Amino acid sequence: MRLFAIIAALACATAASAQDYPARPINIIVPAAAGGPTDAISRITAQAMGKILGQQITIENAGGAGGTIGTGRVVRADPDGYTLLIYHVGLSTAATLYRKLAYDTKSAFAAIGLVTEAPMTIIGRPGLPPDTLKELVAYLKGAGATTTLANAGIGSASHLCGMLLTSQLQLTLTTVPYRGTGPVMNDLIGKQVDMTCDQATNTTGPILSKQVKAYAITTKSRLNSLPDLPTADEAGLKGFELAVWHGVFAPRGTPPAVVQKLSAALTGALKDPDLVKRFREISTEPMPADKATPAAAQQKLASEIDRWAPIIKAAGEYAD
Ligand code: MLT
Repeated sequence: MRLFAIIAALACATAASAQDYPARPINIIVPAAAGGPTDAISRITAQAMGKILGQQITIENAGGAGGTIGTGRVVRADPDGYTLLIYHVGLSTAATLYRKLAYDTKSAFAAIGLVTEAPMTIIGRPGLPPDTLKELVAYLKGAGATTTLANAGIGSASHLCGMLLTSQLQLTLTTVPYRGTGPVMNDLIGKQVDMTCDQATNTTGPILSKQVKAYAITTKSRLNSLPDLPTADEAGLKGFELAVWHGVFAPRGTPPAVVQKLSAALTGALKDPDLVKRFREISTEPMPADKATPAAAQQKLASEIDRWAPIIKAAGEYAD
């Protein structure tokens, strides 16, 4: 009888807390450096979701180790809806790249929903000799390993894009890892590194202001925001398409009522005209409502683990 009373009390408490949720600020952990592409879309999304939830949402950057440091913090956090994660395909690749990962990625989260799918761009430092992708390929074949290719660490989107690029071109370049592509952009503009493959959400501004050289975008067709930038396919890299999905995730065990509230807030946020405008300014689109759901995010996370595992195993590049 006493046990039943305790369980009943706990259930009431959980229901009550879900009802009052969010009763205090929510913290979103972004496993990449401030000022980069994931940081940019996370801050815009957090602002729009905060408006709907009527609560402050803070962003905490915890970059490094291909995003597994920040991700691990969310996996271990209290499942009460006050600590969330916004990250991307790196979640799925880390599941194979990091063989000693302290969590099982497929079951570690209560997925909330997908946010966007950002295209990638192949760009170079000011003064890098080639002007077109064709010239860049010839240049790289000549200069080869002396050319530095910056990325945000093993498993990051910029690493994946670089890996696909060098394997398609059968080239070996010198990779230079950072905690995110925010700092990569500073060093590229500062001519400390030669090139990178980074999300258009981070490169649109520097491309339009001609601070960097732009060679291609990895979408099927050109973007309105970057009309002069050819697709990789039309520029000569046949079939080279890549987009970086981003999603919101909570720790496993987060109450279903809280998950539903967060997913509804995300769906609403992705329709917010201010968010839509700001996403388009950085060359990406909000996900449609049917993708801003827990089921869609969990399905994406799991299917991408299965998609990248054989590619990573074939490359034989592991992070540990
Ligand atoms: C970032 O925000 O720095 C990126 O998402 C890093 C990456 O994965 O390339």
